[in-house]
Amino acid sequence: MKRLLLLLDSDPMPNAYDIIVGYDGGADHIVSYGGITPGNVGPLIDGAVFTRGPSEKKLTAMFIGGANMAAGEELLAAVTKRFFGNFRVSVMLDSNGSNTTAAAGVAQIAKAVPLANKKVVVLSGTGPVGLRAAALFAKEGAQVTLTSRDKQRAAAACQLIQARFGVSPIPLAAVDNDARGATIRGADIVFAAGGIGVKLLEERHWRDERTIELIADCNAQPPLGVGGIDATDKGNTRQQKLVFGALGIGGLKLKLHRACVVQLFQVQIKCWTLKRFTPWLKP
Ligand SMILES: NC(=O)c1ccc[n+]([C@@H]2O[C@H](COP(=O)([O-])OP(=O)(O)OC[C@H]3O[C@@H](n4cnc5c(N)ncnc54)[C@H](OP(=O)(O)O)[C@@H]3O)[C@@H](O)[C@H]2O)c1
Repeated sequence: MKRLLLLLDSDPMPNAYDIIVGYDGGADHIVSYGGITPGNVGPLIDGAVFTRGPSEKKLTAMFIGGANMAAGEELLAAVTKRFFGNFRVSVMLDSNGSNTTAAAGVAQIAKAVPLANKKVVVLSGTGPVGLRAAALFAKEGAQVTLTSRDKQRAAAACQLIQARFGVSPIPLAAVDNDARGATIRGADIVFAAGGIGVKLLEERHWRDERTIELIADCNAQPPLGVGGIDATDKGNTRQQKLVFGALGIGGLKLKLHRACVVQLFQVQIKCWTLKRFTPWLKP
């Protein structure tokens, strides 16, 4: 019997990255669907849960992806709500690599420096990766500030985190690189989670900031998110600070993503979100 992964993407087109990593994680076949919403996901869930007997059900799993974190959360809620009794399969939510990237980044940072009571600034934290990273940092006892170009978006993101994880980052508006540079003054850790190919900070914004001990950037596509850092940096020292680039974080992210898919088919996981793999990654 084949290991089948149903890839449910909230975007119109299923994400190629998630498909490839799904195969590398051990799926024999991936059936991918785009444009999935809580309104149209029902028949797909029914097909997944009514086709295999109890001992074989673990060979069917679902992966929820897409660029929109809130849409992914809604899909996950719709999927798990439709399950009943033993008619359920493993589900993983990782909209835009949110959980795996944030967990890999925060775990590596936590290994390098203690996080409790540290001032962490998550730059452009309104996307899926930033939302999850901010929550993880706060859960580790850090004082987290989350920036956006827009005050209301920052506030909405922090409310989302509060509602989902019970922790409260501080929202802050920062419209451009200089404004973002101002937000990191006095911080201990900076985590840049801006969109792909978007530069958020120049090197001059951080190199003389004495309080900053570590900077991480998730953006792998030039121009990188933080000037003066290389994408391959993985705990290197630059300007007397520890630095992590996107590829430095990405290696563990990829391993984690694959490992999560492997486990989807080993045990029936009701709902695999941040909470489940955070303790596993703790240094
Ligand atoms: N290293 C890895 O393994 C890995 C894995 C997955 C993702 N990533 C990277 O992680 C980063 C975050 O991913 P994501 O999906 O969370 O990002 P995203 O949703 O595309 O963007 C995050 C935020 O960046 C801000 N932004 C977008 N375009 C901008 C612009 N032109 N100027 C200034 N700010 C802009 C927006 O915030 P506001 O509008 O609120 O300001 C947006 O909410 C991306 O660079 C992605 O490529 C890395």
